[in-house]
Amino acid sequence: MATRILFVCLGNICRSPTAEGVFRALAGDADVEVDSAGTSNWHVGGPPDARATEEAARRGIDLSVLRARQVAPQDFGAFDLIVAMDRSNAEKLERLRPQGNTTPVVLFLSYARDNAAPAEVPDPYYEDNFPEVFDMLEDASRGLLARITSGQELAQ
Ligand code: 4NP
Repeated sequence: MATRILFVCLGNICRSPTAEGVFRALAGDADVEVDSAGTSNWHVGGPPDARATEEAARRGIDLSVLRARQVAPQDFGAFDLIVAMDRSNAEKLERLRPQGNTTPVVLFLSYARDNAAPAEVPDPYYEDNFPEVFDMLEDASRGLLARITSGQELAQ
């Protein structure tokens, strides 16, 4: 059965849609289902931030078809792993967790291969550091994908 992964950030227009697109592209034929969502409802129905779409396009990844949605309690039952971009996202997710649910919520950069990577993906919406954030998301995607394809535990 496919491994179902949900990437979550605040707005679902910068970090998590980029993670979704990058991870899907890297996964190739691997048996994964990928989605993304935001903890806020600020951009629901809207496309990714143009700066994220442009950076991804420069790397050969098309984000233009993605649309923002807000994460919901039902997502905990629909995914095997929920991947948060920062601690604030993870804390908000824990408040949405249905009673008895045990789906892991993990920080994405816990899968980073780059030893110098920080714990949290910085928010490019304000910092305007889209290339740097893309590199972090790509590196962590490779780490997560390696874990899935080698049959290791998703969260540790
Ligand atoms: P994201 O970035 O969480 O990576 O999608 C943000 C997008 C929008 C806002 C903040 C962060 N905002 O304040 O509207």
